[in-house]
Amino acid sequence: MAEASHSEPGKVLSPREIAEFREKVYRFYMVHRRDLPWRNTQDPYSILVSEMMLQQTQVERVLERYPRFIVRFPDFVALAEAPFPDVLWEWKGLGYNRRAIFLHRIARMVVDEYSGRLPDDEGTLSSFPGIGGATAASLVAFVFNRPAIVIETNVRRVFLHCFFEGHCVVRDREIRPLVAATCDPESPREWYYALMDLGSALKKRIPNPNRRSAHYRKQAPFEGSDRMVRGKILGILVSEGVVRESELPPLLGIDKERAAGILATLEKEGFLKREGGTAVLL
Ligand code: ADE
Repeated sequence: MAEASHSEPGKVLSPREIAEFREKVYRFYMVHRRDLPWRNTQDPYSILVSEMMLQQTQVERVLERYPRFIVRFPDFVALAEAPFPDVLWEWKGLGYNRRAIFLHRIARMVVDEYSGRLPDDEGTLSSFPGIGGATAASLVAFVFNRPAIVIETNVRRVFLHCFFEGHCVVRDREIRPLVAATCDPESPREWYYALMDLGSALKKRIPNPNRRSAHYRKQAPFEGSDRMVRGKILGILVSEGVVRESELPPLLGIDKERAAGILATLEKEGFLKREGGTAVLL
């Protein structure tokens, strides 16, 4: 990639600039494309599973988990009919377990309300639990091969690097028109694969340009965090099914109040039920 900045924010790209940018991205992609299993299918269910996993988990980790998840739950019906603890079990190692709840609920909604077919419009997709704007747009591009404005971490990195060099705080609303203008209408699916691969390669090559995004958040340390404790509690519940609340503080090395607070949150989110001093996975 040339290091030159292609535009000032707000500037409309000329047809020539668009063509040059596309050519550059595709040239990179021809040599460095990643062969990822969720790209070798057009099955809406499989692509949805991959996009939910990739929301907050690195590609390498998803590669370890995705194939067995698909074998265990091959379609919307299989996932919708599965007991939740089984889904959580297969989610193990991916982190951010709320996504397992969301995916399970989406499968049930698709089966019950959409005759087992994933809706193809962005508005309906983003009304599903756990599907935000970026995932809805990704699904439109990857499942239905239709132009959409996908802005996720790798795509953002490419645009920050190529079009916003030297800018300190860049908002997604400045990037959006450029993402829209440059999307290849002939093949949105392939186009976003290419952008994501380039974005991923840029991360290894240069100091992360995403730091200049107004939306950049450094991930909080995991060790000792509520996220870690939540994971441990769910791990215990997945293997035991039930746990006495009084056992948790010594087991986890935390005080009673913190354990109770985290259990209350997990209950509110729909992971478990608390009754008679015990917590049971739903
Ligand atoms: N290929 C398809 N979706 C992807 C994603 N979200 N991240 C990386 N590669 C992908």
